Amino acid sequence: MYPRIEINLKNIVENAKKVKKLCEKQGISLSLVVKILADSKEIVQTLVENGIDCICDSRIMNLKSYQDITVEKWLIRIPMISEVKEVVKYTDVSLNSEMQVIRKLNDEAKKQNKKHKVILMYELGDLREGCLKEELEEILKESIKLDNIEVYGIGINLSCYGEIVPTEENMRELEEIVEELENKYQIRFKVISGGSSSSYNMLKEGKLPKKINNLRLGEAVFLGNVPCFEEEIEDLNRNNFLLKTEIIELKEKPSVPRGKRGKSNSFGENITFIDRGIRKRAIVGLGKQDVRIECLTPVDESIIILDGSSDHILLDVSDSSKHYKVGDIIEFKLNYAGILTTMTSKYVERKIVR
Ligand SMILES: Cc1ncc(COP(=O)(O)O)c(C=O)c1O
Repeated sequence: MYPRIEINLKNIVENAKKVKKLCEKQGISLSLVVKILADSKEIVQTLVENGIDCICDSRIMNLKSYQDITVEKWLIRIPMISEVKEVVKYTDVSLNSEMQVIRKLNDEAKKQNKKHKVILMYELGDLREGCLKEELEEILKESIKLDNIEVYGIGINLSCYGEIVPTEENMRELEEIVEELENKYQIRFKVISGGSSSSYNMLKEGKLPKKINNLRLGEAVFLGNVPCFEEEIEDLNRNNFLLKTEIIELKEKPSVPRGKRGKSNSFGENITFIDRGIRKRAIVGLGKQDVRIECLTPVDESIIILDGSSDHILLDVSDSSKHYKVGDIIEFKLNYAGILTTMTSKYVERKIVR
């Protein structure tokens, strides 16, 4: 069935093992961010069998589907009050930045006769989730008194909103805050979670401060890529996900539309058309409902992606040396956002290649 995404599980497992080894060498625990797999139990199970002992996801629905897999589970999107029941039931740890949510987690954990672990998020400059120093301390002070909450550690998140990268300076800031809180409250945090794949270079170069003992990594492992720096990781497998689509129309057509133009296309966008004369155009059966088109790179480098609609992607195949016909398969490489959207579309079949 097409469209389909082929997932090279062997390559992913190899990457996970290599990155875990590197983390261990530097005294860092690896929490593998598996949200890109969008509920692929078989892949998560295989990763766990190959040594991954902690997984993270942003969606409680995915973590719920992994409930039979014995592995520590972290919810890495700060929880909604409306989901605390599921958070306590299906996860061991959640990242948090709101005291009112932690109080609700405590109430719910009491009901379920559990102790829920929280990692308190410090705002280190990227301006997504996290508390400024004073609030972090307030939350810590109250949380350590709650019976059914364990303050597991302190975390930061970078490179998501503000494009802020980890540096020796901001990592030192994290270390200093942690030391200050530990000394003041006479506690030792088990986990100091120093970020995501954008920390890969510092990890590799051994530049993370000693206090930082955890990273939550996704893209580095699944794509062999350092986001934010957009660097390839030499010794890791890349292109572990390949999207295959089928040609449903192939015709020669003018490159500029004909007739009176409206204000925008069906997605509210204004497209500029370049007159390249008559071109050979293929339509494949996949659309903006399934993937962000700008995240695709055709494997056949001579193909030009023109645009698409909900259900179609339009390609200019005139310059290809291949003589495509209806029913042929066109392959695409994907970036992180492309994989995430494609994996989330129920209209794209997943095929695991072992
Ligand atoms: C809170 C949090 N931690 C870690 C990650 C992992 O990021 P990356 O895939 O860049 O390693 C993400 C993103 O998915 C995240 O939202």
